Amino acid sequence: MPEPVIASPRPRVLSGMRPTGKLHLGNYMGALANWVKLQNGAQYDCYFFIADWHALTTDYADTSNVAQNTLDVMLDYLAAGLDPAKSVMFLQSKVLQHAELNLLLGMITPLGWLERVPTYKEQQENITGKDLSNFGFLGYPLLMASDILLYQPKFVPVGNDQTAHVELTREVSRRFNQFYKLDGREVLPEPQVLLTPSPKLPGTDGRKMSKSYGNTILLTDPEPEVRKKLKTMVTDPARVRRTDPGDPDKCPVGDLHKVFSTPETQAKMYAGCRSAGIGCIECKGWAADALVQVLEPIQARRASFTVPQVIEILEDGSNRARVRAEQTMHEVRSAMQMNLTASAAK
Ligand code: TRP
Ligand code: SF4
Repeated sequence: MPEPVIASPRPRVLSGMRPTGKLHLGNYMGALANWVKLQNGAQYDCYFFIADWHALTTDYADTSNVAQNTLDVMLDYLAAGLDPAKSVMFLQSKVLQHAELNLLLGMITPLGWLERVPTYKEQQENITGKDLSNFGFLGYPLLMASDILLYQPKFVPVGNDQTAHVELTREVSRRFNQFYKLDGREVLPEPQVLLTPSPKLPGTDGRKMSKSYGNTILLTDPEPEVRKKLKTMVTDPARVRRTDPGDPDKCPVGDLHKVFSTPETQAKMYAGCRSAGIGCIECKGWAADALVQVLEPIQARRASFTVPQVIEILEDGSNRARVRAEQTMHEVRSAMQMNLTASAAK
């Protein structure tokens, strides 16, 4: 009889986003496209989720958008190519183990660690009009650490803006492993950041594309909207008149071309811009062509899902995530001796 083939378990990766609304090209290039690659590479067991509790850390006073935003982000995940047959796609609030681990890790996390996370002070200063002196907001990075450690992943694929949070996660895991062991073994391995190599993607105003700047191109923007946004996009400031030569390396539209256009179009752009042979309107039209080509299949896939289907995918994925999460929690409770059973009685 042939030896049974025992599939060695693949290492896991885990990542997620807050449900802040429809995703834009910056989210896609900065994270989502890379997640899809990781999923299709089949090297890892992939877990991708929506951090709806995290939305409450800033939007607690008005929670009316969280459900719709969750559906929109989920649709964008699916549109971008995440596939529930290949990845576990789930919703944080449907896996209560996130809250349990958060509570337990809260016991061992010094306040100073949370106060020192750079985004904490930054956001408190930058987000005006919301009182962010809450327990939940201070605890944002620890909830994120719980999200991560709950799945014992090897890698966390995130953008640069999240690396401080993963660093805190590593510190918390080390502290946990120092205090508690299970049969001499560490229960919460230190995960590593898997940095997304993301090209610089400018928004329509030339600054980094970001929802808070209002300069985004959404994955759901229809073609006329994309063309309209491109028309008002800032260009090389040295190119004032049509007859002035410009430099695509100093132009946000040039940056878009570098990410999305073919080498032929890029060559045309460089030559035409530097010799003032083309106008910016024409050049922007080419950039819009390239964007529309990228967005077309994404939008077609989005249109192929109904809301009830999306909800079912989330339920299903959350059920699968819960099984994996419970496995970790069983080890965590055992290591902490928080699983009283008859046999433990003296
Ligand atoms: N903080 C992340 C963001 O704003 C979202 C997030 C929450 C996350 N929990 C996570 C990302 C766990 C990766 C892993 O984008
Ligand atoms: Fe920018 Fe294109 Fe105009 Fe050159 S021609 S300044 S690259 S928009």
